[in-house]
This record gives sequence, C-alpha cells and structure tokens, in this order.
Amino acid sequence: MNKAPLRIGVLGSGKGSNFEAIVRAIRSGNLNAAITLVLSDNPNARILEAARSLGIPSNALPASSFRTKLEPEIETLAANQLADSGAELIVLAGYMRLIKAPLLNRFPNRIVNIHPSLLPAFPGLDAWKQALEANAPTTGCTVHWVDSGMDTGQIIAQASVPVLQNDTPETLHARIQKAEYQLYPEALSKIAAAR
Ligand code: GAR
Repeated sequence: MNKAPLRIGVLGSGKGSNFEAIVRAIRSGNLNAAITLVLSDNPNARILEAARSLGIPSNALPASSFRTKLEPEIETLAANQLADSGAELIVLAGYMRLIKAPLLNRFPNRIVNIHPSLLPAFPGLDAWKQALEANAPTTGCTVHWVDSGMDTGQIIAQASVPVLQNDTPETLHARIQKAEYQLYPEALSKIAAAR
C-alpha cells in the first residue's frame, strides 16, 4: 500500500536553494512528501519569494532581537504555525539560528538539518571557509537530526566533495551545494519510507 506523503514544514533564512531542490524531488516523484509551510526568520529571504512563486504557503516570523536564536515567544509561534500546517517533520534549509525548547519539545526527534561540512568537522558558520582555512583535502555535507547543540545531532547521511587547490570560498560552497541538492532529498526520502 502506498504511504501518504510525508508532511514537511521548512525553516530557512537565506536563498532557499535546498528548499527548491526538495520541491524538485517531490514534483519529479523522487520524494514522497508535501511541503505544508515555509517559515523564515528573515522577511527579505529569497526562500520566501521562492515559496511564493512555487505556490507553497509561506510566512515571515516577527523580528527577533537575538542573533543566534529566536525569542521563546517567537519560536513558540513558529512551532504553532508549523504544527497547525500539519507538518510531521521539520526541515531546516539554510536556517541560521539554534533550535531551542519550543520547537524541540513540539517536534521531538523530528527536526533535520543540512550542514555544509562532514560533521563533526567544521560546525558553525561558513563551514566551507573553515575547510579552506584548515587546508582540508576533502569536505562535504551532512544531514543530521537536530538536538539542542550546534550541529551536534545524530548523523543521517553524508556526501563528500574534494577541495581543489585553486578553490575560493564561492567555488567550494557551490560544489558542496551541488552535493546537498542530491543528499537532502535522498535522506528525506529514506525518512519518509521508514515511517
Ligand atoms: C547551505 O549550504 C546549508 O548547508 C547551509 O547554508 C546554505 C543554505 O543555502 N547551512 C548552514 O550553514 C547551517 N548551519 P540555501 O538557502 O540555498 O539552501
């Protein structure tokens, strides 16, 4: 018997190209899922524009005075909106804040993230720059479950890419992103199948 599509809520802060890759995988039949809502902590993020043009419900969260997390009230609002949309799984797609108790408690072990390095190497910001600065021969991307730490949750899947001698931060990040567009939909598809 075919399973119902996995209902996914997305949180993103930036350009939303992973979100677009996930939508492509859904629309081409490679991922049995449906996106119920896209939320952003940044009202000007391109991910909101991308959601609008794809006809997917989206909302900007109220401005937050912290940089690394949301105020508990705003995170509670996000959790309420995601739960009301019917999301079963929360997918972080370029979401640049820590996830705290309001979301972790509402979606226990049901939040996933993609990070642009082979965790546990290079957690945190600009992981591709960290890889370049460390002269790492290889880097990549990691899909992992989200816990209260920064990029510390259980690893679900990884893909590696080479670091080339003449790489700039931009060329290396572009190579990692190409790997992300494959890895994230594949990992989500396994999660959808394992329900
Ligand atoms: C991606 O490379 C993602 O791995 C990274 O931000 C980029 C977002 O791109 N996320 C993090 O660094 C999270 N710590 P996108 O908005 O085009 O998907």
